Amino acid sequence: MASYDVIVIGSGPGGYVCAIRCAQLGLKTACVEGRETLGGTCLNVGCIPSKALLHATEMVHEAEENFGKMGIGVAKPKVDWKQMLAYKGETIEANTKGIEFLFKKNKIDWLKGWGSIPEPGKVKVGDEVHEAKNIVIATGSEASSLPGVEVDEKVVVTSTGALELGKIPKTMVVIGAGVIGLELGSVYNRLGAEVTVVEFLDVITPGMDAEVQKTFQRILKKQGLNFVMGAAVQKTEATKTKAKVTYKLRKDDTEHVLEADTVLVATGRKPYTDGLGLEAIGVTMTDRGQVQTDAHWRTNVNGIYAIGDAITGPMLAHKAEDEGMAVAETIAGQAGHVNYGVIPGVIYTHPEVANVGQTEEQLKEEGRAYKVGKFSFMGNGRAKANHAADGFVKILADKETDRILGAHIIGPMAGDLIHEVCVAMEFGAAAEDLARTCHAHPTYSEAVREAALACGDGPIHS
Ligand code: FAD
Ligand code: NAI
Repeated sequence: MASYDVIVIGSGPGGYVCAIRCAQLGLKTACVEGRETLGGTCLNVGCIPSKALLHATEMVHEAEENFGKMGIGVAKPKVDWKQMLAYKGETIEANTKGIEFLFKKNKIDWLKGWGSIPEPGKVKVGDEVHEAKNIVIATGSEASSLPGVEVDEKVVVTSTGALELGKIPKTMVVIGAGVIGLELGSVYNRLGAEVTVVEFLDVITPGMDAEVQKTFQRILKKQGLNFVMGAAVQKTEATKTKAKVTYKLRKDDTEHVLEADTVLVATGRKPYTDGLGLEAIGVTMTDRGQVQTDAHWRTNVNGIYAIGDAITGPMLAHKAEDEGMAVAETIAGQAGHVNYGVIPGVIYTHPEVANVGQTEEQLKEEGRAYKVGKFSFMGNGRAKANHAADGFVKILADKETDRILGAHIIGPMAGDLIHEVCVAMEFGAAAEDLARTCHAHPTYSEAVREAALACGDGPIHS
């Protein structure tokens, strides 16, 4: 039996970052992980592999669509699917090995196996029980199931199966027009599959700024994605090579059937806390199966904390990381803090979609007086040169004080551009502060400045 200041259960972005910060703060730390590699959902079957396939297929798209326009003659790109999957595998390995290296460097013990908490202050891994002054639950999430839909990870798949398909399907039905559905739907659309997205609501990416939703869906349709909106999936029936998806249109209750080589179920994720023994030790859960925590990530049981996808809030890697650092600082007696009002969200399609802070719809609902500064990438020289002028930057600011309340970007490098606004918001900046900041020319980020100018006397280039 070993004794630790902190044992973190789970090595995803929440858990591994927490373990590293604990070690940096002088706490004797171990991290329990049941998978064969560190890094959790994000590095093994989430963010990293999906971004590798998005990058590779974007290159295919770029070569097919834009090379000719710039005078570069290439034959139609030939996709070697096995090699593309191998590239994805190497990317995962480089990242998961990187965490192993960081654990060694920071003298963090990796306790290999599935952990449980037999009693407060103790963590059981295999037959061994270890003592821990503090325990951090960072066990993440898993794909939600859908009644009538049986996942076999071959024909009817979750994102995990979709990242590992034996061959590129000719036809694909995606259930759910959320982040996973649109990212992975884009991957297979670019690889030549006929992709149909079936969504329960009348809008894609629920919760996002409505103008962005509309522009995003228009662009995706132009790229070849088909959408069936307002459709409730009833069931799937699969053979070894195909599946039928039955759905009912909500507007008239009519039943329809689609057939495809692959069906991707992407209707959300749920917290994963199986096998931890939380009920037996009396840890309070929310009615949605999340571990209930207070503002300092403490559960109701002394010495047990929880972070990341296993608790409330957006299921994002960087949210989990920030909580990981903050809870480590809290355990070490410092003032760990996460600003939940400034957590960006990014969809890594082409173009990218990014947002931070409040949407216009939320501001309207609150009855808040606000102003909108919008700028199209059509007015941005760099975007036009790069055949990437579809989209816009929209900044929302308080009508009276000019303080930035939110930003919504659809366009080139949106996932990077958004951070300028995040930093500004973190410092409580006004739109004028962004507008008065000199931006290098020609860059995409000039579009952010122009949107900020549009909150005041007006943009220059529109
Ligand atoms: P996880 O990453 O889920 O890690 C939890 C770990 O705990 C797992 O490795 C699990 O094996 C381990 N574990 C569980 N129970 C036990 C136990 N009892 N004992 C030992 N180990 C245990 N987010 C983004 O921000 N950007 C993206 O681009 C992005 N892309 C995504 C793409 C896909 C396809 C998916 C599925 C998700 C994506 N996400 C993305 C979400 C992101 O992966 C999660 O928000 C993030 O991984 C949550 O981190 P976590 O540390 O809370 O949990
Ligand atoms: P999601 O919550 O983003 O989207 C699910 C979609 O499915 C919604 O549009 C919902 O209306 C729809 N839906 C639900 N039930 C349905 C039904 N019966 N029939 C048809 N449609 C239905 O969930 P998703 O895409 O599975 O992603 C899960 C999580 O992973 C998200 O919370 C996201 O934060 C995270 N993620 C983040 C990424 C990123 O940051 N780039 C990438 C991928 C995942």
